[in-house]
Parts: sequence; structure tokens; C-alpha cells
Amino acid sequence: MARPSVTGMNSESAVLLGQFLRSPAATGAVAPSSRRLSRAVCAPVPEGGEPVVVELGPGTGPFTAEIQRRLAGRGRHLAVEINPLLAGRLSARHPGVDLVVGSAADLPALLAERGMAAADVIVSGLPWAAFSPGHQAGLLRAAVSALAPGGAFTTFSYVHARALPAALRFRRSLTASFEEVVAGRTVWRNLPPAFVYHARRPRASAVLR
Ligand SMILES: C[S@@+](CC[C@H](N)C(=O)[O-])C[C@H]1O[C@@H](n2cnc3c(N)ncnc32)[C@H](O)[C@@H]1O
Repeated sequence: MARPSVTGMNSESAVLLGQFLRSPAATGAVAPSSRRLSRAVCAPVPEGGEPVVVELGPGTGPFTAEIQRRLAGRGRHLAVEINPLLAGRLSARHPGVDLVVGSAADLPALLAERGMAAADVIVSGLPWAAFSPGHQAGLLRAAVSALAPGGAFTTFSYVHARALPAALRFRRSLTASFEEVVAGRTVWRNLPPAFVYHARRPRASAVLR
């Protein structure tokens, strides 16, 4: 784990903050997610078998580390990060992860290129509430169509932003895309506090759209 500097900020936190200041809408976070939020969002990653786990928007890698811990060398872990600087740093720290520098919008094609039919679990770190309606819908459609029928999709939302129009729109799209959507408890030990959406059973209508 990176050590805090004299400013109290570790190097990964400083890198993410720098990327946020350069490109707030694409980065969507001022600080990496905490261990506690990482554990909550990665809970559907099974601790047995050979699952295909996809991670969208890994950033500096808090969810990456938790997924790797849960997989313990089993299955496949594909991560898709659009920011080349963040992706480069992450692949150096996690050589066992299949890290693609690209957009989550291309997820179905990325799985097909690897001969994988679908993902068993998709863990998303994407900043949904920062996206335009069209971009948000396209990314969610790509994730839903890449998920196995019995698969699980998780993502998180910041508590202070949950009533923003873009966050409400995302929540409605989730409900339209999955038969089951459950919001977890607030994780107070995160900057800022956040909660997880656990979604299961993609609706056929959402996959065919
Ligand atoms: C809110 S940060 C989350 C980072 C990390 N998962 C965490 O929880 O600390 C969102 C990340 O998604 C990435 N991202 C944004 N749009 C993306 C896209 N279309 N495809 C893949 N990654 C994207 C950003 O570059 C950033 O690293």
C-alpha cells in the first residue's frame, strides 16, 4: 500500500486528484474509494470457481486490489480504463490483470476478442452521474449486454449527489435494465460517503435495445 506523504496524501490519491483537476467529468472522483467501499462493491465476486470478472473505470485500483484478493489467482479479471496514465500505473502494480486502455462502451467487443461469452460479475467505478444522458445510456447498455443472465452488476453513488438529475436518471435506467436493484447502506468511511447498487437479472428488453 502507498505511504502517506508529508501532506497526508499518498501518491495514488495525489495522482487521482491531479487527473480530476485536469478532467473532472471523465474522472468523477477527488479521491480513490476506501477499503470499506471496495469490499462492499466487490462482494458479488465469488470466492470459488473460475468466474469472469470485469471492472470498469478502475482508476488507481482500490477495487482492482479487492477483486484480485477475492479471486486469489482463479478466473479472469478484465479491467477497462480510459485514462492512459492511470491504466499504465495500474498495470505495473497488477500484472495479473488484463488491463485494456479504452472505453467501457466497447466491452462486448473486448470480451468477444478474448473468446469470453459474457461476464459473471461486472464491478463499475464509472462516474455515472457525471455523464451526459446519451453517454450514460450507451455505457449501461454495453455493460448489461455483456453480463451473463445469472450475473451481477455493482456500482456506487456518492450520497451527496444521489438527488442530482443525472444520478436519478441513472437509478431509473438501472431499474429499467435489471429485475432486481438493491441500494446498500451508506459507507461513511469513504471520501465522500457513498453507497453501493447491487443489480441482478438483466431484463431481456434492456439487452435487446
Ligand atoms: C470515479 S473514478 C473511480 C476510480 C476507482 N474505481 C475508485 O473507486 O477509486 C472513475 C474512473 O473511470 C474512468 N472512466 C471514465 N469514463 C470511462 C470509460 N468510458 N471507460 C472506462 N473508464 C472510464 C476514469 O478515468 C476514472 O479512472
